[in-house]
Amino acid sequence: MHTILITGAGTGIGAATARRLSSVNNTRLILIGRRRIMLENLLETLDNKSIHRIYALDISDSESIKELLSNPSTGLEQHPLVGVFANAGIGGPNDFDHKEQDRWSEIINTNLTGTYNTCMASIPWLQKASSKGITTKHIAITSSCLARFGVPNQTAYVTSKTGLLGLVRSLAAKYSREGILINAINPGWVDTEMARASIQSMADEAGIEFKDMLQEQKDIVPTGRFSSPEEIGELVAFLFSGAQQSITGQAIDINGGSWMG
Ligand SMILES: NC(=O)c1ccc[n+]([C@@H]2O[C@H](COP(=O)([O-])OP(=O)(O)OC[C@H]3O[C@@H](n4cnc5c(N)ncnc54)[C@H](OP(=O)(O)O)[C@@H]3O)[C@@H](O)[C@H]2O)c1
Repeated sequence: MHTILITGAGTGIGAATARRLSSVNNTRLILIGRRRIMLENLLETLDNKSIHRIYALDISDSESIKELLSNPSTGLEQHPLVGVFANAGIGGPNDFDHKEQDRWSEIINTNLTGTYNTCMASIPWLQKASSKGITTKHIAITSSCLARFGVPNQTAYVTSKTGLLGLVRSLAAKYSREGILINAINPGWVDTEMARASIQSMADEAGIEFKDMLQEQKDIVPTGRFSSPEEIGELVAFLFSGAQQSITGQAIDINGGSWMG
C-alpha cells in the first residue's frame, strides 16, 4: 500500500481531495492540519477510515513535520510515500495602515515557509520510495490565481503564492530526474470557508451585503461561478494517477477563466 500526505486536510480543498484520494485503490493518507477536531470529522467521512492517520501540527514549524514523518506511527517505512499535496494556507489582507495588524510574517511563514518545510521534510521519503521500485512520485502545491495579479492590501498573500511558483520550478529542476514531479495548482475562487471569509471582509469594506459581494465576484469570473473544492481534488487525483510522467515544474490554472495565460 502507498501513502499520500495532505496538509490543510481538515477543511475545504484539502478535505475534498482527501475524500477523492481515499477512494483510490491501495492508498492510505496522512492528513495534517492544526485543528484536530476538523481532521477527526473528515476521517469519519473517508473510505477505509482505519488505514488513514491524522496529525495536528503547524507546518510553519520546520521541525514538527520532519519529526512527524520519522515517527513510526506514520507507517512510512512499510507504506512508501508517493504523493504530497502541500495545500495548507491562510488568507486575508495584511498591510492595513495600522502596523499592529500587519500579518506579513504569519502569512509568509505559513504559506511560503510552511510549504517549503512540507516539501523538504517529504522529499527524503519520496526518494526512499524510489529504492522500493516506485518510479514516479508527485508533489502538488496549492498556489493561487492571485500569483497572477497584484492585489492591494494583500501583499503577503500574493507574495507567498507567487513565491510558491519559484519554489516549484526550483524543486522540479532538481528532482524531476529522480522521478519526483512537482507542480503548482493555481485555483481562482473556490467555494470554501476561506473564500467566504474573504467575501465577507470585502463586503464589509464596501459597505454592502455578503450576497451582493458574492454575486459581484461571480460576475467577474468568465464561467460565472466559483469552483468546487471537489474539482481541485479531481485535478490532484489526475496528477497523482500515473497517467502522465511529463508534467513537472508547471503552474496549472484552474480558475473559471479568471486569468488566461
Ligand atoms: N478558496 C479559494 O478561493 C482559494 C483560491 C486560491 C487558493 N486557495 C488556497 O487553497 C488552499 C486551501 O484553502 P481552502 O480554500 O480550502 O481554505 P480552508 O478551508 O481555510 O483550508 C485551509 C486549511 O489549511 C490549514 N492550515 C492553515 N494554516 C496551517 C498551518 N500553519 N499548519 C497546518 N495547517 C494549516 C487549515 O486548518 P487549521 O486551521 O486547522 O490548521 C485549513 O484546513 C490554501 O492554500 C489557499 O490559499 C484557496
